[in-house]
Amino acid sequence: MNAVRIAPSILSADFAALGEAIAAAERGGADLIHVDVMDGHFVPNITIGPPVVRSIKRVATVPLDVHLMIEDPDRYLDAFAEAGAAMLSVHVEVLPHLHRTVHAIQALGLEAGVVLNPSTPVAALTEIAADVDYVLVMSVNPGFGGQTFIPRSESKVAEVRALLDLCGNAAAPVEIDGGIDGANVGRVVAAGARVIVAGSAVFHTPDPERATRELKAAAAAALAPSPSAAR
Ligand code: DX5
Ligand code: ZN
Repeated sequence: MNAVRIAPSILSADFAALGEAIAAAERGGADLIHVDVMDGHFVPNITIGPPVVRSIKRVATVPLDVHLMIEDPDRYLDAFAEAGAAMLSVHVEVLPHLHRTVHAIQALGLEAGVVLNPSTPVAALTEIAADVDYVLVMSVNPGFGGQTFIPRSESKVAEVRALLDLCGNAAAPVEIDGGIDGANVGRVVAAGARVIVAGSAVFHTPDPERATRELKAAAAAALAPSPSAAR
């Protein structure tokens, strides 16, 4: 059973103190730093671009997991690779040539992820599931932090996991993003999620270090064999 990784999303951090926010999350055991890139077109919000990723890269000691919520990601793959992304995910909804994009990301030496909006069916992945390094299931409509988890996402994680296994891509983890907190993280891990993004549950707390540690412990507890299974 592979371990669960926690990826705090800096979208909910204080943008004037990103270095401090990242350091706190890392002290709490963050495995990745999740960076949300929004263009005001694919999603209503505008956030950050390659220069900020480059600055974050200088201070982060864990890999950067960059989530592109932009209309034309192909134009910016090189820029985010140069800025220091280790993982780069793109939305299936904006890419008619997703196969080309996934392989372009991998050719840059990065892990390529594909992302599904809540209304996008798992079937959209059928022809690409064997090629990806990970799949990100959105459990809110992308654009903002602090939204409520959409319960249907739980079974969607399990469906994506099954599809990846069926395609012989058991090594590719399922990531989940949106509305994750200590109350629901156990359920999404049980459904098969192994990379957990959390923004407000980490940074909208008085102690992001502790919040990261507690979320990671709650996620790990869902992986631990139950006493009945151990018998
Ligand atoms: C939403 C972003 C998320 C966001 C999650 O569009 O993709 O990564 O930061 O924030 P929470 O955990 O607050 O839902
Ligand atoms: Zn995200």
